[in-house]
Amino acid sequence: MKVIECIALTKVFQDFWGRDRVRAVDKLDLDINPGEVFGLLGPNGSGKSTTIKMLLGLLYPTSGSARVFGKQPTDTAIKSRIGFMPEESYLYRFLNARETLDYYGRLFKLDRHERRRRTEQLIDMIGLKRAANRPVGTYSKGMARRIGLAQALVNDPDFLILDEPTTGLDPIGTRQIKDVIRILGDRGKTVLLCSHLLADVEDVCDRVAIMYGGKLQKLGTCEELLTQNDETQITFRKNEKLLSRVREAIGQNGGEIISESHPTLRLEELFLRVVGQAQRDQLETSGAESTVGVSAFLGGDHRGVDLVSSLVEAGKKPAPGLAADAAGTAAPAGPKTDVLEKLTAKADDVAKTKPEEPKPSPIPSRQPNKAVLDRLMGGGEDKP
Ligand SMILES: Nc1ncnc2c1ncn2[C@@H]1O[C@H](COP(=O)(O)OP(=O)(O)OP(=O)(O)O)[C@@H](O)[C@H]1O
Ligand SMILES: [Mg+2]
Repeated sequence: MKVIECIALTKVFQDFWGRDRVRAVDKLDLDINPGEVFGLLGPNGSGKSTTIKMLLGLLYPTSGSARVFGKQPTDTAIKSRIGFMPEESYLYRFLNARETLDYYGRLFKLDRHERRRRTEQLIDMIGLKRAANRPVGTYSKGMARRIGLAQALVNDPDFLILDEPTTGLDPIGTRQIKDVIRILGDRGKTVLLCSHLLADVEDVCDRVAIMYGGKLQKLGTCEELLTQNDETQITFRKNEKLLSRVREAIGQNGGEIISESHPTLRLEELFLRVVGQAQRDQLETSGAESTVGVSAFLGGDHRGVDLVSSLVEAGKKPAPGLAADAAGTAAPAGPKTDVLEKLTAKADDVAKTKPEEPKPSPIPSRQPNKAVLDRLMGGGEDKP
């Protein structure tokens, strides 16, 4: 069964007098398969957020249909299977990170033990352990985005919708979110990612769609859309003698060299190396910390074990695209073997293990403020 199925989905916004004003989405046909990381691209006003709102049942289509897990988007039975990170996270300013996640956990009727387990794992994953007791209203933009991601994951959704998740994030946070998206995809989750950052979409998405004027303009895998099949690229160790013979051979055989250059680092890789060095030198920061891996509860423990084992293997090699540099310094953002090995210890144990003790923080640790949460929840007791 498809996770998303849109058939001729259309949304026309009307003005006060009922006249058609904006055709925001126009006869959109779109399928998303289980386990797929799908990128939705398009310039401002091309209809991405309107499409997402119809998939979430927040807007009614003017015509056509949308199905999510085979059901109407308004069906409450599917709500617990969906995680949504909106363009802007609307958070209660006076709740801290723990209280915020505890609050969302209550909305999904998770019991106290499960809420605590997920909250601690998510805070660890998004790198906000040291800031977890500060009101989220005092967070920087990127720190608030990180909490937005954790909030979208608290119900362990099968389908995750991310609208501009990396806006405002530093390159390390961006890289971490991309790693999280990739790992969730490998764990069988389906992800719909909207972003203007094309490089990010290219890095994580299996398939992409480009919208313009509410219509689908292009759809395919990144490989299908980007590979230039009529040209070939070869990379080999620098060797002037060999290079001149290759040039000669190409010329003698009727070929033509279109361009010749040295491979360059991507700016992301350079940035991660520089900051990774600063972290190894243990320089002080009051901002978000770098973390590795994905919370164990996400994706069900049975699948997690296989995946984590494969990550442990991968962790022994340098992360793709971030090979150790000439001086032998390891890439900063690859999976950290010891953490992952701990996670593989046993799926059941992971579920039972107490969250790791937070690093000493200048602010004394405290439990979620129950009074504030009860007030927000309408004064209810914990429901099992
Ligand atoms: N509630 C609304 N009433 C009237 N017009 C709307 C409404 N919501 C969106 N629109 C219009 O629909 C079109 C598509 O908007 P949408 O927010 O879906 O674009 P988007 O692709 O998400 O853009 P962005 O990249 O800027 O987030 C725009 O022209 C927008 O002005
Ligand atoms: Mg939008």
